[in-house]
Amino acid sequence: MLAISDITNLALDLTSGLSNQDRFDRLLTTVRTLLKCDASALLLYQDQRFVPLAINGLAGEVLGRRFALADHPRLEAIARAGDVVRFPADSSLPDPYDGLIPSLHGELKVHACIGLPLLVEQRLIGAVTIDGFDALQFNQFSDDELRIVTALAAASLNNALQLQALERAGRIAVSNSPTKSANESNEMIGRCEAMVALKRDLTVVATSELSVLVLGETGVGKELVAQQVHQLSNRAGQPLVYLNCAALPDSVAESELFGHVKGAFTGAISHRQGKFELADEGTLFLDEIGELSLELQAKLLRVLQYGDVQRVGEDKAVNVDVRIVAATNRDLKQEVAAGRFRADLYHRLSVFPVLVPPLRERHDDVVLLAGYFLERCSAKLGLEQLRLSAGALTQLQQYQWPGNVRELEHCINRAAVLARAESNKLDVLIESHHLALTVHEVDSGVDNRVIAVPVSTNEGLKDATERYQRQLIEQALQHNNHNWAAVARQLQLDSGNLHRLAKRLGLK
Ligand SMILES: Nc1ncnc2c1ncn2[C@@H]1O[C@H](COP(=O)(O)OP(=O)(O)OP(=O)(O)O)[C@@H](O)[C@H]1O
Ligand SMILES: [Mg+2]
Repeated sequence: MLAISDITNLALDLTSGLSNQDRFDRLLTTVRTLLKCDASALLLYQDQRFVPLAINGLAGEVLGRRFALADHPRLEAIARAGDVVRFPADSSLPDPYDGLIPSLHGELKVHACIGLPLLVEQRLIGAVTIDGFDALQFNQFSDDELRIVTALAAASLNNALQLQALERAGRIAVSNSPTKSANESNEMIGRCEAMVALKRDLTVVATSELSVLVLGETGVGKELVAQQVHQLSNRAGQPLVYLNCAALPDSVAESELFGHVKGAFTGAISHRQGKFELADEGTLFLDEIGELSLELQAKLLRVLQYGDVQRVGEDKAVNVDVRIVAATNRDLKQEVAAGRFRADLYHRLSVFPVLVPPLRERHDDVVLLAGYFLERCSAKLGLEQLRLSAGALTQLQQYQWPGNVRELEHCINRAAVLARAESNKLDVLIESHHLALTVHEVDSGVDNRVIAVPVSTNEGLKDATERYQRQLIEQALQHNNHNWAAVARQLQLDSGNLHRLAKRLGLK
């Protein structure tokens, strides 16, 4: 039986001034106390997939996974159900969380699992999944009781979505083009502070007409940022045209950019539109802008100043309305100082500079990104489950990622193929040796360093282990400004367990 007081608390949370994330986390904490489950997740339904918004008792990487219904029959069943679904303990549908519940060692095969589809006016907006290790543990709750939890979760999620929609409507009030939701191919994964700030900046600048200059090391996601700017802008319904300035030989560059008329030069057998014209009313993404020759820089500047382009071989100019997003991994300021980049062009492009942080500064995001790539890779390889061993995960977290997100993506894809070759199951575990990463001593920050615990001869294993745990938690606390939730994420512990452990170790 559910206690009225618990339900009341759940309902009160809906209207409190918490942030969405806190509200979602509290929802799951309450679900856990109410139903005594071992793992739960709140999922958002979007484009035929479930996107985890909050998790409880599940591995951190789950937050990065995107569960396509087509690949997860159990979730598909929940999406189609329209009401509480109870999966029989011997259900043949694989559980998407198999191997992703850290407190459970070994396989999660026979267990209790409930899915609550969240509907608003018959429309699916999300789901709550509830897992328990004991096959019978949810039998004491009636469907009606579970429907109460469903209704409160649906209201909580719907509130958050409506607020989001309102905010967005306020920003693009003058837009008449539909803004697409970020779909799988170009979603920007990241919850660390730097990425949250970056996303916030992008939403703000996207709807302006300002030029955006995307800066950052190789493989950090600059192109992805450019796509986001376009998609969040009022031009989303118009083309996003890509031009790689590095792959532009001088001989064809001008015609590529501005087009040419028939007979303009030998080989110009017909009229051709340049990228600027193709991007009219849309966005032109000038990738590797730092590689553009000084001569072309001058021509580009002219177009940006006057808004009109002149096709090669034609006198009259055509007016274009193009929004520019440029990217480079060079330090453009330094290029200007060295005389390789025009200062006036630099100032025009860098009205709104955006720095994409390197992966080694994104801390916990490595885990999310790993989850995201694992899920994608698993679907591509037709696997039921693809996950990381604890050792492999530690290796990913300790590695310095010179090639950034792209390197992480390739690393996981490669390791998955290797691991699959060694396994004869559809449930594949990636281990450290598949990743083959050389982890060097970290020279900045204290988060990832392995601490040596000096062994004292008269100390038992239990004491030494506790001392090590204490040290790790203290270090993580320091690193995360004493934010316990962040510490729990870093150490991949459920926050309730972390609190209990910290108490036992005398840290609280
Ligand atoms: N935050 C992110 N979430 C999900 N995928 C990401 C993220 N950042 C980068 N990626 C993926 O990593 C790969 C590299 O990203 P991208 O091509 O945007 O980087 P880049 O900065 O343009 O690299 P380069 O400097 O080599 O041009 C892409 O496959 C991209 O989808
Ligand atoms: Mg790029």
